[in-house]
Amino acid sequence: MQIGVLTGGGDCAGLNAAIRAVVRTAGHELDRSVVGYRRGWNGVLDGDSVELDPDAVRGTLPRGGTMLGTSRSSRRLQTEGPAPLIAQLERDGVEALVTIGGDGTLITSHRLSEAGFPVVAVPKTIDNDVFGTDVCIGFDTALGVATEAVDRLHTTAQSHDRIMVLEVMGRETGHIAAGAGIAGGAAAILVPESPFNIDEIAERLIARHHRDRNASIIVVAEGAIPDGSVAVPDTGTDEWGNRVLDGMGQFVGDLLGQRTGFETRTTVLGYIQRGGPPSPSDRLLGSRLGARAVEVLMEGCTGHLVGVHSTEIALRPLGEVAGRTRYLTGDQLELLDLITTAPVLTRVTSSRRWF
Ligand code: F6P
Repeated sequence: MQIGVLTGGGDCAGLNAAIRAVVRTAGHELDRSVVGYRRGWNGVLDGDSVELDPDAVRGTLPRGGTMLGTSRSSRRLQTEGPAPLIAQLERDGVEALVTIGGDGTLITSHRLSEAGFPVVAVPKTIDNDVFGTDVCIGFDTALGVATEAVDRLHTTAQSHDRIMVLEVMGRETGHIAAGAGIAGGAAAILVPESPFNIDEIAERLIARHHRDRNASIIVVAEGAIPDGSVAVPDTGTDEWGNRVLDGMGQFVGDLLGQRTGFETRTTVLGYIQRGGPPSPSDRLLGSRLGARAVEVLMEGCTGHLVGVHSTEIALRPLGEVAGRTRYLTGDQLELLDLITTAPVLTRVTSSRRWF
């Protein structure tokens, strides 16, 4: 069996471990090199590929990003569907494909599978929002970077008696914000899953600072949204009709500064979260999922996501998971409420003690 591999969507740490595992497993089990497509689906459409043998992936484990390059979804794919992909894959002699990507990649993989081409998908994204897996490649590294940022911001917050706001990525979910906020001991964590009330947060911070805790860290997910208490800044939509996520951290920082009167500074962590060497967990996860993806194809299974449930590798049909989003659960939101100074849930009861 001739296997192809590609990475799609935003880059993250741990992709090279997955590519390497695909290549090494194909080398061991099939005694064949793998066709690597450059720049995601665009590489397939353009016939832009490279032969990957074990030598080609040597030394890539500690490297961030993707050695194959990547791209976001293309208009051509939207309009023409999987036919041009299948035509090129057949021209290249590729009989089965491993795709490593987030939801956009899963949707295209599902279309490809429905059209009869053997494909399995491996979940990756720092956002950790792929439905059907407990964890995605890249999340652990991003979480480590964001937590370290919170740790470092504590220093200035304490030295200057300031509110320090940190905006992290995550699109419409708060996995990075919740993880880094809890691990770093933030006073408030604002996530898209629960609209925030800026006045309530300001009140809690004023009360907290009156109790001689003059330093507060606020972690804001880029996709966080206020409840009706303030108007949401209009950042427009992108070419796919998605809300452009831009400036929520600064917006929150400005409002908190005005409402509390405390000195407030905002940091946007941005692409730092996606870059740099993968954590050991992401290298392990990429290696496990990449190797299993090849085995799954060899077993004749197609159209599945190769993800993780609890500690085990678990397969889910792409038809059940593509196009869906994994949000923070009610339990996770409750935890934010229980251990931060300012609540995230608008439905909290006033009888609860916060301090
Ligand atoms: O999906 C990963 C992610 O880093 C999001 O957290 C972020 O909103 C988005 O990608 C940024 O996308 P781009 O690389 O296209 O600017």
